[in-house]
Amino acid sequence: MLNIKVVRSKQLKEKPQDETKLGFGKIFTDHMFLMDYTEGEGWHDARIVPYAPLPLDPATVVFHYAQEIFEGMKAYRTADGSVQLFRPDCNAKRFQDSADRLCIPRIPVEDYIQAVKAIVDIDRDWVPHSDGASLYIRPFVFANDVGLGVHASKHYIFCIICSPSGAYYAEGLDPVRIYVEDEYIRAAPGLTGFTKCGGNYAASIKAGELAEEKGFSQVLWLDGVEKKYVEEVGSMNIMFKIDGKIYTAACTGTVLPGVTRRSIIELLKDWGYEVIEGKLAIADVMKASEEGKLEEVFGTGTAAVVSPVKELDWEGKVAYIGGGKIGELTQKLYDTLTGIQWGKLPDTKGWTVKVEKQL
Ligand code: COI
Repeated sequence: MLNIKVVRSKQLKEKPQDETKLGFGKIFTDHMFLMDYTEGEGWHDARIVPYAPLPLDPATVVFHYAQEIFEGMKAYRTADGSVQLFRPDCNAKRFQDSADRLCIPRIPVEDYIQAVKAIVDIDRDWVPHSDGASLYIRPFVFANDVGLGVHASKHYIFCIICSPSGAYYAEGLDPVRIYVEDEYIRAAPGLTGFTKCGGNYAASIKAGELAEEKGFSQVLWLDGVEKKYVEEVGSMNIMFKIDGKIYTAACTGTVLPGVTRRSIIELLKDWGYEVIEGKLAIADVMKASEEGKLEEVFGTGTAAVVSPVKELDWEGKVAYIGGGKIGELTQKLYDTLTGIQWGKLPDTKGWTVKVEKQL
């Protein structure tokens, strides 16, 4: 168990008046969590301090070699005013998997959850009250050695910041247009596709920019070897309802194992759907569209929640989905998942975890 020292901010910031205009990840709460790692000593000095810039040497390893991992979670306010997290153990375990791949020392699952609970607890007044808005939580670890040698750092900082946020996409729950990327790739076997490391996102920006210039919200990545099979959209996993069955890429090393993804798969299976986790060729998706069998396409992610897709463009071919409207199953998944997260529906799965008032 961590011994977390708390230094409260003496100058609390003004909270946003209009929760419908929060956007995503734009404003930050009064405090942040910090913990240091030193080789030989392990993780130490867990503390909550006023939110502030971090003074870092320009030769800090993370600036040069991107030895960094992060997570994305949310805290939700329920009708009775309490605050809860969604499956924090899943994020904590995924953080460890990312850490292993990036040669970063692991944070024990219980310490990670304690730290998340503590920062949410102290800034609980920042958890939005409006429908669809929540407190986005961003835990991250970065290499803090000073020097330009390429090797695992001996010092790290674990930091958690929080941002009251609304929908990730400007479109909200309106279906988005997605460009199927056929030049750049996001991941390949043996690389870091399954981790949440900053480098994966840095490498994706170019394709995202080009797609945005063409009016698309996001890029759908194909596998990095044959550029044939659908993998994920940089900010979310993606699922296809074809002729009544649900298809999504398997998590075999190149796709991020999303917490929302696995929750949606559990719900779908509970409801009797056949969910096929495996290789799905983009050509087959387009063929299904031509045959009128591509019924729904939606993304899943912590930030994106459940996000309907209305159009896929691949090599000059276009698949229009659901007449531009959110599909029936996509809507039901969104309602059920958010219902559980915001405590409006009973949590029969034990997915939610209350943040008790302690600080
Ligand atoms: C999340 O869904 O939490 C993410 O980290 C995705 C990011 C692109 C916002």
